[in-house]
Amino acid sequence: MKVNKGIILAGGLGSRLYPITLGISKHLLPVYDKPMIYYPLSNFLNLNVFNILIITKPNDLDNYKKLLGNGSKFGIKISYKTQKKPDGIPQALVIGKKFIGKDKVYINLGDHILFGKKLNNIFDKINQDFTNNFIFSKKTKNPKDYGIIKYLNNKPKKIFEKPKRYISNRAVCGLYFYNNNIFKYLKFLKKSNRNEYEITELNNLLIQNNDIKIINLPNSISWYDAGTFERIAEISKLISYYAKNNLFFGYLEHIAYKKKLINKNDYLRAIKNYSNTEYSHNLKKLLYINESY
Ligand code: G1P
Repeated sequence: MKVNKGIILAGGLGSRLYPITLGISKHLLPVYDKPMIYYPLSNFLNLNVFNILIITKPNDLDNYKKLLGNGSKFGIKISYKTQKKPDGIPQALVIGKKFIGKDKVYINLGDHILFGKKLNNIFDKINQDFTNNFIFSKKTKNPKDYGIIKYLNNKPKKIFEKPKRYISNRAVCGLYFYNNNIFKYLKFLKKSNRNEYEITELNNLLIQNNDIKIINLPNSISWYDAGTFERIAEISKLISYYAKNNLFFGYLEHIAYKKKLINKNDYLRAIKNYSNTEYSHNLKKLLYINESY
C-alpha cells in the first residue's frame, strides 16, 4: 500500500503568545488534555497520512522528539527537519522536497484545529479524488485575520491575505493538498512585504491556472487557528465539553487503534503510561465508546 505523506509546520515564533512561547513552542501548548499538535496529527491519521514530516525551530526539536518520537507509538512514521527562521508556509515544500519526492503531499499548520463528526466523510471523498490540488474554506467572523477568497459569479477569483477592507467571509483554512505539479508553480514565488513567501500567492497562481479546487466546509465543522490566548481557551473549553458528552477529538492512540496501526496491548500501555491524567481517563472511556474523530 502506498502511504500518504504529510508535513506539519511547527516552526514560527509564536510571538503573539510571548512570554510563554519564549520557553516552549506554540504547538506544544495544551489544548484541553493534549498538546496542540495532536489535532493536526489527528487530521492526518484520519486522512490515512501515516508518513509525516514535522518542521520545527532547531531549539524545539528535542521537545518534539520527546513527545512524539519516531511515531511508532501511534503506528506511523514521523521524521523531523528544522527551519532557522520563519520564511512562510510554502517553505514547507522546499524543506520537504526530498521527503515528498515524486508524491503528492498534505500540508497542515501546527496550530490548525479542525474537527467535526462529519469531517471524516469529507476527507474520505477528497482523498479518493486527490489528483487535483485542494484547499478548504470556512466562513469566518474575522476576515481581517486570514486569507480571504474573492468570488466572481460564484467562482473563486483571487485570495487576499488578511485584507483590511471587507472582501467576503470565506477564509482559507490551514490544510492544503498539493499534487507534485506544485513544484512547477513554486519557482515563481517572490517574497512579500513581510519578507516571507506567501501560501496565498501560491494558491493564487493555482487559481489563475484553474488548477485548484476549493472545498467549502459546512457550519457543522469547527475550525480554529489557535494563535491567541482567547482562541486556545475557547477551543479547550469546547473540546472538553464534547469529551464530557462522549464526543472525542484528537486522541491519536484511539484513531491509530481503530485503524489497526497499533494493537490493544499498545493502547492499554498508553492508558497505563498516562495514568491519573484526563487524557488517560478519556482513552479508557474510548475503550467502551470506541468512536473518536
Ligand atoms: C495563514 C495563511 C492564511 C490562512 C491562515 C489559516 O495565516 O497565511 O492565508 O487563512 O494561515 O490559519 P497565518 O497563520 O500565517 O497568520
